[in-house]
Amino acid sequence: MEKVWVRDVGPRDGLQNQKQVLDPEQRLQLIQALRSAGLTQIEVGAFVSPRAVPAMAGSDRVVSALANTAGEFSVLIPNEKGYDLATAAGARHIAIVVASSETMNQKNIGMSNEQAFRFAKTVLTRASHDGVHASCYIATAWECPFEGSINEDIILQQAEVLIAAGAKEIVLADTIGAATPQQSATLTNRLCREFGSALIACHFHDTRGMGIANAYAALESGVRRFDASIAGLGGCPFAPGASGNIATEDLVLMLNQQGYDTGISLADLATAARLTRQLLPGVGVAKSTQWIERQIEKGAL
Ligand code: COA
Ligand code: ZN
Repeated sequence: MEKVWVRDVGPRDGLQNQKQVLDPEQRLQLIQALRSAGLTQIEVGAFVSPRAVPAMAGSDRVVSALANTAGEFSVLIPNEKGYDLATAAGARHIAIVVASSETMNQKNIGMSNEQAFRFAKTVLTRASHDGVHASCYIATAWECPFEGSINEDIILQQAEVLIAAGAKEIVLADTIGAATPQQSATLTNRLCREFGSALIACHFHDTRGMGIANAYAALESGVRRFDASIAGLGGCPFAPGASGNIATEDLVLMLNQQGYDTGISLADLATAARLTRQLLPGVGVAKSTQWIERQIEKGAL
């Protein structure tokens, strides 16, 4: 069976957009439940301004509590200060965030495109010197809520710059969930051909219900790395119209049924999803939840 890597970004992308703020112990409980389901890649926090994103305050405590735990625990970095704080806390995997457009970079990290890519290159150089694994999000890779649709050539150029600077992975983020399956296919096809699929990951939001179709289109183009959030949590406070990520349950179910090896247990994911809803009352269910719960009742999962 061919391997597909699924990274749960719920403890970061999911929690950053919740009104209710979880404390580091509750965040760790969620992370442990995801680990128990077989997830080895989890985005566990963000080193951002606590005024900008209150839910990510205390990410240093989350990272240091995981110091001796097996797994790749990434944290989002919006500037060099974030890198300093993350590495001081012991982070070994970072996810730099830059956006495709000038306006989104300004709204999200308070930088122009030029400043954003300069920051990314500086941090990539430092990370490679420090032996820290660095991936790069390109936010709004298909459509920007402020500037509209993004030309594919721009994303290719940006990916090339980031890879040349040392990025170990480019995460194409459909931040507002506006891509179509066709657009997902064409961009991922070009990137996989240009840079090889080992360097390309996709991060889809499900605003228009197209997230799994977009993931499937990317899978068919050769992408083998995907982000998703337990229970479909997620959203960007700085991108109007962004809703949750594709749910990890839906993605893993699709991949399992298509015959890929994710190493993730659907039954244990359902347990993590129940915990998510317990910690965050009001959070909805994934599209596949009812079916998964029925299989568990029948003893089929
Ligand atoms: N971690 C913690 N604090 C930070 C920080 C970081 N990475 N970067 C800046 N700060 C602090 C500064 O020290 C300053 O604090 P002070 O007012 O107590 O002195 C305050 O934040 C403002 O700093 P400034 O440099 O003026 O930044 P800003 O107000 O322009 O905000 C960001 C820029 C990037 C820090 C802020 O917009 C941010 O954190 N955005 C988060 C983006 C995000 O998470 N998006 C969702 C994921 S895609
Ligand atoms: Zn996202």
